[in-house]
Amino acid sequence: MKKRWWKECVVYQIYPRSFCDSNGDGIGDIRGITSKMDYLKELGIDVIWLSPVYQSPNDDNGYDISDYQAIMKEFGTMEDFDEMLAVAHERGIRLVMDLVVNHTSDEHAWFAESRKSLDNPYRDYYIWRPGRDGGAPNNWGSCFSGPAWEYDKATDMYYLHLFSKKQPDLNWDNPAVRDEVFRMMNWWLDKGVDGFRMDVISLISKKPDLPDGVPGINGYAGADEVANGPHVHEYLKEMRQKVLNRTETITVGECAGVTLEEAKKYANREETELNMVFQFEHMGVDSGENSKWSDRKADLRDLKEILSKWQKGLEDVAWNSLYWENHDQPRSVSRFGDDGAYRETSAKMLATCLYMMQGTPYIYQGQELGMTNVPFESIEDFRDLESINAYHELTEQGVFTREEMLRYLRYKSRDNARTPFQWSGEENAGFTSGEPWIMVNPNYKKINAKEQMGREDSVFHYFRKLIRLRKEHEVIVYGTYDLLLPESKEIYAYTRTLGEEKLLVVCNFTAGEVTFDLPEEFWTGAVLTGNYEDAAVKEHMALRAYEAVVVKKQ
Ligand code: GLC
Ligand code: CA
Repeated sequence: MKKRWWKECVVYQIYPRSFCDSNGDGIGDIRGITSKMDYLKELGIDVIWLSPVYQSPNDDNGYDISDYQAIMKEFGTMEDFDEMLAVAHERGIRLVMDLVVNHTSDEHAWFAESRKSLDNPYRDYYIWRPGRDGGAPNNWGSCFSGPAWEYDKATDMYYLHLFSKKQPDLNWDNPAVRDEVFRMMNWWLDKGVDGFRMDVISLISKKPDLPDGVPGINGYAGADEVANGPHVHEYLKEMRQKVLNRTETITVGECAGVTLEEAKKYANREETELNMVFQFEHMGVDSGENSKWSDRKADLRDLKEILSKWQKGLEDVAWNSLYWENHDQPRSVSRFGDDGAYRETSAKMLATCLYMMQGTPYIYQGQELGMTNVPFESIEDFRDLESINAYHELTEQGVFTREEMLRYLRYKSRDNARTPFQWSGEENAGFTSGEPWIMVNPNYKKINAKEQMGREDSVFHYFRKLIRLRKEHEVIVYGTYDLLLPESKEIYAYTRTLGEEKLLVVCNFTAGEVTFDLPEEFWTGAVLTGNYEDAAVKEHMALRAYEAVVVKKQ
């Protein structure tokens, strides 16, 4: 296996709106991030992935960009950005930008031109079609409810928007669009940024005839129908040649609808496209019948099957990314662990289970504190358009009652990950001196960075240790993965092997005690880490609630 720095690094995702507010307007900003660089250094991460900071009308919190080369006013200025980049680099931390180029904002200058007339030079920058039988051109739905098409009076045609109607899809089949995107990316690389996380990059190439798809619960076909289109690999190869190969970049593609076979192309080891992808299968493990809206608990066997499939499937041929959380997912400790009595123990267990696997680890802000889901009281507490639109659409259609939908939102809404970072027990969790743009999780007095940094056995310090271990033991980065006990509903156990080095990772996913028979080759081994102080190597191990142990063969 080829050794690469981006396989050995640990990435930390910042959602700027919710990280740290420097000027009291209730909105996190770039200077806020700069002021916390030493915190990130202490945690030990190597790379920051910054969710979008570009100029945006904020229909989707920055994922709707109206100027790719300007900074959102609320977040600061380009000078603030340059300073943040310099401060990060001084500390040896690299910076990855969020590249959102499946769509722009409808307030982008290109779209303002495009909608004007059929012969406008920018017309073909977007995807326009005439209506069908007095309605939309096909049955595709927006990921944020309703149809994926919006009628535009000026030219009596519809434009495609796989996300909100303020996020029109770019037409990647137009070489001028690709050139504009590549030019813009090169401009950011010239500035010194270190790579890109590519937003829904699997959706950029649409099938030319835009065929109807199979309708989902709200009557529309989902975006997965559009994934991995006919030219996506060709376009990414072009990007690699015209942009990414210029310097040593790190790239990760957010690939909705990606299969193992497709991932092997996106993240191929010949290195002609991206370094790695975010796959979504393990995030669907607790979905409802036909949508993500549910509060069903995952079956550990399903989770193991999916993660193991990706571990083995990409072994030697591509590279995995490891994540439990991001700004689109609820908090992992509430989802896969126990956010009550065993919050700290289960947060550490989940981290051990995931970050001992093969792949590049991604930590989402607050995950390193074991931040939890939020007790939202009513729909008025939510800010995310996906959540709010789904609530209205599905309750109005009678698919779910309001009570059901609120329960599902409390469990799955993206806003669970978007409440302010809990810095301290002071007012507003030390995030802002003003009125925060979204509620603060009321548990901040108990769960906050200040308290955890000062306590050796905190989740924060456990994350530090896991990060350090990856740097000290090559087997954690490069070793092969093999699952044990696939049928167990309680235990997730696997080994990692690199030459003579071998590790065993055992995690109890329940609050009860479960026994585990240690494989003989580990009987003489030593505990490398674990979330209980006094763990010992025994032939028959009695795992306590949410216990995680890593044993190193001697
Ligand atoms: C990606 C982003 C998500 C955003 C969507 C549209 O899935 O992660 O936050 O809403 O793309 O850009
Ligand atoms: Ca601010």
